[in-house]
Amino acid sequence: MEDKQTNNRRILLIYFSLSSQTKNLVHALMDGLREQQVEVLEERLEPDETLRFPIGSITATVSIMLQTFFRKRVKIKPVSQHCFNHFDFIILAGPTWSYNPSGAVLSLLDRDGAKLFNGKVVLPLISCRGYWRMHWYGLKRLLKKNGASLLNPIIFSHPTSEPWRTIGVFLKLAGKTPEKNSFISRYYRKYGHNRKQIKEAHHFGTMIGDALNRDLDLNTLDFKTKIALP
Ligand SMILES: Cc1cc2nc3c(=O)[nH]c(=O)nc-3n(C[C@H](O)[C@H](O)[C@H](O)COP(=O)(O)O)c2cc1C
Repeated sequence: MEDKQTNNRRILLIYFSLSSQTKNLVHALMDGLREQQVEVLEERLEPDETLRFPIGSITATVSIMLQTFFRKRVKIKPVSQHCFNHFDFIILAGPTWSYNPSGAVLSLLDRDGAKLFNGKVVLPLISCRGYWRMHWYGLKRLLKKNGASLLNPIIFSHPTSEPWRTIGVFLKLAGKTPEKNSFISRYYRKYGHNRKQIKEAHHFGTMIGDALNRDLDLNTLDFKTKIALP
């Protein structure tokens, strides 16, 4: 069913999020798009196996990091049938896992990649602590192999400086609370993206919606701002 309030611009937003960071970004982005009367269909990838955040222990975290380095897949439930309908373009969003796309996004590409992305325009969105380049190159290659053409990616990295964000993410995954540790909390206040970045994601949504409404070339949009990639 078409939404009567829209100008018939339709975007499919497919995403995976383990610890809600991608989810927070895409929800803000979606609000910005909807304010521009763009219709957005949201599809969250649901694991079909047990996957918890936090992972819970140091050993289990190291083990998952190793497995994800070798691109271990996470089984996912089938996506809704409407994902295969026509959209102006598709946003594919998810976190970086050990320099790769997450196991859930890799599973989606293995299983539905050709049917979902062949001949489609895709805007990738990456949420990471800071190391996204290998992920981006790998994702670009896989999407192109599946027949997609790509828009400039949206990349958000955690705003905390090193080495604290690496230590903080690792401890957080292992089930600790570094932001409450009297020493570490001086340098590591919060896990993940900050409010400014969520606002920036909303702004990107508005920018994209406005460009769509004015029939502008979406590839002229540049998302590499100091807020998104501090
Ligand atoms: C198993 C695992 C591996 C990760 N590896 C990386 C990495 O290689 N580079 C990076 O920048 N962030 C890495 N991260 C951090 C996540 O990309 C980051 O916390 C992201 O914001 C999480 O998004 P989500 O909450 O939507 O899952 C890793 C996280 C997990 C769980």
